[in-house]
Amino acid sequence: MTSRPRSRTALSTAALLTLALGATACGARGAGADGGGEDGYTIKFSHVVTPDTPKGQAAERFAKVVDETCGDQLSVEVYPNSELYGDEDELQALQSGAVQMLAPASAKFTTIAPQLQVLDLPFLFDSVEDIPKVVAPDTAAGKAIYENPELAKRGIKVLGLWDNGLKQLSSDDAMTQPSDLRGLRFRIQPSDVLRSQFEEWSAETTPMAFAEVYNALQQGVIDGQENPYSNIESQNMHTVQKHITESDHGYIGYVHTINKEFYDSLPAELQTCVDDASAEAATYNREVAAKLNDEAKQVIEKAGGTEITELTDEQRQVFEDAVVPKVWKQYADVIGQDLVDELLAQR
Ligand code: LMR
Repeated sequence: MTSRPRSRTALSTAALLTLALGATACGARGAGADGGGEDGYTIKFSHVVTPDTPKGQAAERFAKVVDETCGDQLSVEVYPNSELYGDEDELQALQSGAVQMLAPASAKFTTIAPQLQVLDLPFLFDSVEDIPKVVAPDTAAGKAIYENPELAKRGIKVLGLWDNGLKQLSSDDAMTQPSDLRGLRFRIQPSDVLRSQFEEWSAETTPMAFAEVYNALQQGVIDGQENPYSNIESQNMHTVQKHITESDHGYIGYVHTINKEFYDSLPAELQTCVDDASAEAATYNREVAAKLNDEAKQVIEKAGGTEITELTDEQRQVFEDAVVPKVWKQYADVIGQDLVDELLAQR
């Protein structure tokens, strides 16, 4: 029988709990009050996808670069696939210092930093090539993320933005026009923008943690979901979905974050080393993301149980016209009127 995650490791929940509880608030190995113990520092990096996805690979790369370049005073432990913390508790774990590093999809920050929903705006990007220029740190959208006051207030420091790629729709029904979604219930990340997007397409929504999606699809609690191919395939969602519509309608990007108190406790040269490793992981992430999504699509095609429909430009336009500019304008007060106006003007 197909199990949900392809790369779950053998660590038991009890062992993981012990690991989590054993973390000191600031990640120091050894007992330094300022976060620096004589044994050095450990970054526990928790995330919710498998190691072979764009985020999973970037996390591994970050750990490797730290290992190779930061000396033996700093080490990184990566916990993939919601093994240590999942969507429901990872942001709390970051703020309390139970883990030092995360890279949640921007939508996961909706409650604490609603402006990050800018990245959920449907059809913000026409293709993955558009992503770097729209969300560079010096653009209006980039500043909303990198300089977000709500994150800073909660002691969350932004190191970078990683991509997965563009989202596709999956369900048991063929979907070539918004009305095909009528009556279907889609799992969404906890974002009001995403809820409105689906409502404009006549669908219903249920917010749900990523780790629950496979089971919820299998048991019919939900009918469909949206994700890039790499997330669909690595969680085996395609094995319980008869149709995927390649709509490229939305973006999943990851905010690479570190607990600021922990970061500030690091000696200056280790801070620089973390910054450099994060930048290198971001570069690597952009190099591999498209390839990993292409490969995942091929795996799904070969598996043969899911029909993939690539929308024509005209069909995609109908989906787009139903939500742009309507949903964008609906959330201008949350995202920022100037930012939404600027993004609309760029179209
Ligand atoms: C999802 O919840 O669908 C994604 O954000 C998971 C991820 O981290 O890619």
